[in-house]
Amino acid sequence: MTIIVTGGAGFIGSNFIYYQLKNHPDDRIVCLDALTYAGNLATLKEAMKNPNFRFVKGDIANQTDVNRLFEEEHPDMVVNFAAESHVDCSIENPRLFLETNIMGTQTLMDACRHYGITRYHQVATDEVYGDLPLDRPDLFFTENTPIHTSSPYSASKASADLLVLAYWRTYQLPVSITRCSNNYGPYHFPEKLIPLMISRALADESLPVYGTGENVRDWLYVEDHCSAIDLVIRKGRVGEIYNIGGHNERTNLQVVKAILHELHKPETLIHYVTDRPGHDRRYAIDPSKIHSELGWLPQTKFDDGIRLTVKWYLEHRKWWEDILVGDYQNYYEQMYKDRQ
Ligand code: NAD
Ligand code: DAU
Repeated sequence: MTIIVTGGAGFIGSNFIYYQLKNHPDDRIVCLDALTYAGNLATLKEAMKNPNFRFVKGDIANQTDVNRLFEEEHPDMVVNFAAESHVDCSIENPRLFLETNIMGTQTLMDACRHYGITRYHQVATDEVYGDLPLDRPDLFFTENTPIHTSSPYSASKASADLLVLAYWRTYQLPVSITRCSNNYGPYHFPEKLIPLMISRALADESLPVYGTGENVRDWLYVEDHCSAIDLVIRKGRVGEIYNIGGHNERTNLQVVKAILHELHKPETLIHYVTDRPGHDRRYAIDPSKIHSELGWLPQTKFDDGIRLTVKWYLEHRKWWEDILVGDYQNYYEQMYKDRQ
């Protein structure tokens, strides 16, 4: 089987490629990635040595790039990770998010219709459900929770999900969707909370916590996300949505303190800054559908996962230090200058 994995030079896509190469060594994996600021070929260095792996630089929203790849590879499946993924960037430049996340999804699915496919899988997010109140720990997102987005990022991802469902109903394109909670682990770009805090704490720099730090995220170790997608594309029902999450809710402050504890750094590094506009309060996934239908359960508890993640960043300094130079410095200054 040949699987096109889009966005495979990013955080979750690269972890998924390594998961596939390890667990399904007979399958051919072709990565299509535009190598935006978030894509990194160094991440795929080991995969490049595998004869069953091919990397192709290209844009999912570019019909020529996409069609050429379909003609060369005749894929059986497409798993679409490619996206603009950072909420704060979507607040600065919404249009790019619409172009990649919506038009890119449409371009890929049109190629799937044209050339034929056994499965188009959309990697989606729990952010499409909006947020939950902090004082209602009994509430969770199920697959039937109405879409109610907050940011341009989540609105673009929700739009893509609706298009995917429309292609199923209208054209019977065999699709599936997974909506996952916050991931963490190796190869996570240091614009996001956990790798940002690890890299800054290691340099004894202040840690910018938005608002009061009371917002809650439901953290899932990235390998558990990969195993869930793997099950859904191989055994999940077409036309279905599956929520993925591991009941690992933490406030942002708890996460930052856990990182400081692992690194033996003082909590005085924490610096409260201006809140994110429209900041979602709490995400919490009910994963009972994927558990009961496909037997999926997460394997890594948050306390173990955060330890593994900190260890990975300590052992792979060159990977993230190479990112922190150049454009990243400008990004940090631009993004955080008005928050102080
Ligand atoms: P990421 O930003 O780390 O990686 C995105 C990748 O997509 C990069 O390699 C980038 O170069 C590539 N890309 C961007 N635009 C492209 C384009 N037009 N054509 C081809 N490639 C392009 O993102 P991530 O955190 O790995 O997220 C992957 C997917 O999972 C996204 O769809 C995201 O919405 C979803 N998701 C992420 C999380 C999370 O916690 N990170 C949780 C749930 C769902
Ligand atoms: O829930 C899934 C989503 O999780 C994915 O769809 C997104 O692609 C992914 O980026 C992530 O979105 P979040 O906005 O939750 O992740 P982020 O790491 O940006 O922020 C996590 C929390 O930490 C959020 O409440 C904002 C806060 N935060 C973030 C940064 C970058 C801070 O307090 N300070 C920061 O500097």
